[in-house]
Amino acid sequence: MTAFTYKNGELHAEDIALSAIAADVGTPTYVYSVAAMTEAYQRFVEAFAGQRAQVCYAMKANSNLAVLRTFADLGAGADVVSDGELARALAAGIPATRIVYSGVGKTRAELAAGINAGILQFNVESLPELAALSEVAVSKSAEVEIAIRVNPDVDASTHHKISTGRKEDKFGIDIAQAGEAFAFAASLPGVTPVSIAVHIGSQLTDIQPFRTAFGHVAELTRQLRADGVAISRLDLGGGLGIAYDGEDVPTPAEYAAMVADTVGDLDCDLIFEPGRYLTGHAGVLLTRIIFVKNTGERRFVIVDAAMNDLMRPALYGAAHAIQQVREPASGATLREAGATLREADIVGPVCETGDTFATAHALRDLPAGELLVIRDTGAYGAVMSSGYNSRPLVPEVLVNGGDYAVVRPRETLEQQLDRERFASWQSQERTGQS
Ligand code: LLP
Repeated sequence: MTAFTYKNGELHAEDIALSAIAADVGTPTYVYSVAAMTEAYQRFVEAFAGQRAQVCYAMKANSNLAVLRTFADLGAGADVVSDGELARALAAGIPATRIVYSGVGKTRAELAAGINAGILQFNVESLPELAALSEVAVSKSAEVEIAIRVNPDVDASTHHKISTGRKEDKFGIDIAQAGEAFAFAASLPGVTPVSIAVHIGSQLTDIQPFRTAFGHVAELTRQLRADGVAISRLDLGGGLGIAYDGEDVPTPAEYAAMVADTVGDLDCDLIFEPGRYLTGHAGVLLTRIIFVKNTGERRFVIVDAAMNDLMRPALYGAAHAIQQVREPASGATLREAGATLREADIVGPVCETGDTFATAHALRDLPAGELLVIRDTGAYGAVMSSGYNSRPLVPEVLVNGGDYAVVRPRETLEQQLDRERFASWQSQERTGQS
């Protein structure tokens, strides 16, 4: 991805110098590139040119309205998992007919909202959900199309916290019991089973688990058709991994070829729910060094971003490349060996040792005030942030060529305090100078 490159000695997002964004909106801030998102989307779609495929962007990866509108304009649908996501997708102009609803615990209110919106399909994950959906649909005199999400018991060989297709995981219905689930669905009013859904995990760097899972889905499709269930659509989920650290990852073309191999002869419409692939490389977290602290034992570079802004390192031990905004004298990364490099831990200000972005990072001697970026944070970055340590939610900036826009302003302390109330038995007066 070429959206973040050095030009005139400075890292740019497309044609905008990141230092200019830092000067304008402050740090930390997320910065996204429209060009990078567009390129990823088109690469994915073009790989499926010969197949009847619809991308339903897994918006949990990055649900900023302006990001959603970017994908809506490109023709994407959405995979939603909550009332909030549904509302955002609709607000951003994603047509309901391109929305699928995933999730293991949809409430009746959420099911009702999906029905009211007229979404394409619900991916049902349990028999109780099937019964609830039927009830809600009947109460609205609606007939909704559903997929049964199956659990194929395939190990995705990814981080265990984001592996979703093993028997012990909470997701889907055991593929061995799918026949009964479809029979139950067929017996219920208000729901029409037309589809099988599967999603075995996220950040898959090996194509083989997909192949195995989709092979099982193909087999199930044939069985169900033989039993008279008219399966016309397969939702093959998301999960395609990206290279965070030079890993070898499957290309969309390789992934699409494997899809054609496994389910291509079934004459089904295909849905894909990529999240990370579409936005991961398209974002950076821009941060400034507050202090450099030498303890004798170690050298700590303390930056103004923290684990509450980007949880992935603390939560999954994820490694994100870190780069300086001022172009280093030679080479583009801080990792290369060289006389001027010293090892440092790059850490945030939050009061936990887990608030560490990199350990023993080969870093040039950088003074306080220097800007850094944490790369590949366009997916599962801002969406997973919190206000821990009463740190305001950071801004999001969208860059498009030589234009940029603040698409989420920095939260103010006033907004933070205004969300809360004193209890009725307490003095209502807010003191201090907030
Ligand atoms: N479809 C379903 C049903 C999912 O559960 C997910 C992700 C996706 C699609 C999109 O997967 P992707 O293409 O992005 O791999 N917070 C974690 C990732 C959690 C993914 C959860 N489900 C992280 O930061 O790595």
